[in-house]
Amino acid sequence: KKILLINGPNLNLLGKREVRVYGAKTLPDLEEEVSAVAKQHGVELTCKQSNHEGHIIDWVHEAGEVYDGIIMNPGAFTHYSYAIRDAIAGVHVPCIEVHISNVHKREEFRHTSVLAPVCAGQIVGLGFHGYQLALFALLHILEGE
Ligand code: DQA
Repeated sequence: KKILLINGPNLNLLGKREVRVYGAKTLPDLEEEVSAVAKQHGVELTCKQSNHEGHIIDWVHEAGEVYDGIIMNPGAFTHYSYAIRDAIAGVHVPCIEVHISNVHKREEFRHTSVLAPVCAGQIVGLGFHGYQLALFALLHILEGE
């Protein structure tokens, strides 16, 4: 299986940004961790990060052509990007939304996800571990297809 991992805006700052909220580990640490688990399960994982909405939209379209599933932490785009929502709704591959922090414990604006209704599921508040859980969830979904 081929899975695309997309980390959105500001996640390149992991390890430096709001360490109390997101932890001290970096984006390369995260990508290595998830890639190792993917490899153990025979999954070909590609990791991308962008601060630009349009890049993320283009990658979702590409995923619709050449990947079996998407794991996405859309960062703050989660809360307002109808364009990313339409991109996910427009492709025929499952997408799992992941948040490192427990968005429900935080500011009110983080409690809403405009993407969740078009995602297969959502994992929040479990740190980097959430990405592994998303990978397992996708494999489960893909096996059932
Ligand atoms: C986040 C939560 C978002 O509200 C925030 O804008 C982020 C990171 C998370 O992983 O907890 O950038 O998606």
